[in-house]
Amino acid sequence: MIVLGIESSCDETGVALVESGAAPVPRLLAHALHSQVEMHQAYGGVVPELASRDHIRRVLPLARQVLAEAQRGLGEVDVVAYTRGPGLAGALLVGAGVACALGAALGKPVLGVHHLEGHLLSPFLSADPPQFPFIALLVSGGHTQLMQVDGVGDYRMLGETIDDAAGEAFDKSAKLLGLGYPGGPALAKLALQGDPAAFKLPRPLLHSGNLDFSFAGLKTAVLTQVNKLGGELAARRADLAASTEAAIVDVLVKKSMAALERGGATRIVVAGGVGANQRLRAQLDAACAKRGVRVHYPELALCTDNGAMIALAGAMRLQAGVQAATRSYAFDVKPRWPLEEITAAAEVLS
Ligand code: KG4
Ligand code: ZN
Repeated sequence: MIVLGIESSCDETGVALVESGAAPVPRLLAHALHSQVEMHQAYGGVVPELASRDHIRRVLPLARQVLAEAQRGLGEVDVVAYTRGPGLAGALLVGAGVACALGAALGKPVLGVHHLEGHLLSPFLSADPPQFPFIALLVSGGHTQLMQVDGVGDYRMLGETIDDAAGEAFDKSAKLLGLGYPGGPALAKLALQGDPAAFKLPRPLLHSGNLDFSFAGLKTAVLTQVNKLGGELAARRADLAASTEAAIVDVLVKKSMAALERGGATRIVVAGGVGANQRLRAQLDAACAKRGVRVHYPELALCTDNGAMIALAGAMRLQAGVQAATRSYAFDVKPRWPLEEITAAAEVLS
């Protein structure tokens, strides 16, 4: 079975083709991505209306590109999967609209996929795929969650952020440091030249006894340091970046270890844009090695938003029989959509 996946929830248009058969994990045939980073850079952040319009321009050329790369015809597509949510409403509508139009034109069923499930399952496309059950650390621009994952569609929330997400903490701190959008990668790059112990920054909820996160206070602490430094900021920018990154990573690693200890899990999967962070990877690898825990990451190129994870999640849901594709084409999108709502008996579009 060949699944075409379309991702358009935020500022990347992604299209991919996966093939599922007898093997437990579907195979990626081709994927293509267009990042809108350059377009939004002038505004210092994502402009939703511009994002939607750009998805419209990009999605069909990208679909043609992946079909050509995979040497497949549109008629060979069995199911069209798209990101149904969460994300920007207008941006989601582009992917949903195109997916349903394609499905209707081809007479093939469509499937709405949860964006975070895409991230969560994306390590299955890596050279070292995980096995169920595992703990998932989902760290993206909008979400920071620890989940117990026992199978496709079988997700239990263990803890989440009560305010800013980890990616948001990176992005907002980067802005305070005068770095451009997207802030996470820029802050991480600058941090390489700084001393992570230079500034004492708060590690909120580190000893809270639960698995929740809070990053709003960190941003305030960074702002306080920026104001204190005044004219000296330029000389200390790398140190402050390194200290900020260290604070975020420290909390993510400690809470992940606590989640692993609680449930006695021996595997952890890290997914979402912040999963590309090298300090997080190094610290998590070290902490897990000490405990004999296996860590699985998506390929670096599949850490941030992409179509491959949506095609994969669609194919894995169909393969596991937890969701059926539909031919109703009466699409809707879910800009806000908690991951725990997609249970094994996932709602099917009516
Ligand atoms: O998963 P993603 O591409 O989009 C969402 O679903 O939100 O994640 C984007 C987030 C942004 O906050 C970005 O700054 C952050 O991931 N990010 C990073 C790195 N690369 C991306 N944060 C820290 N270090 C990185 N290397
Ligand atoms: Zn994402």
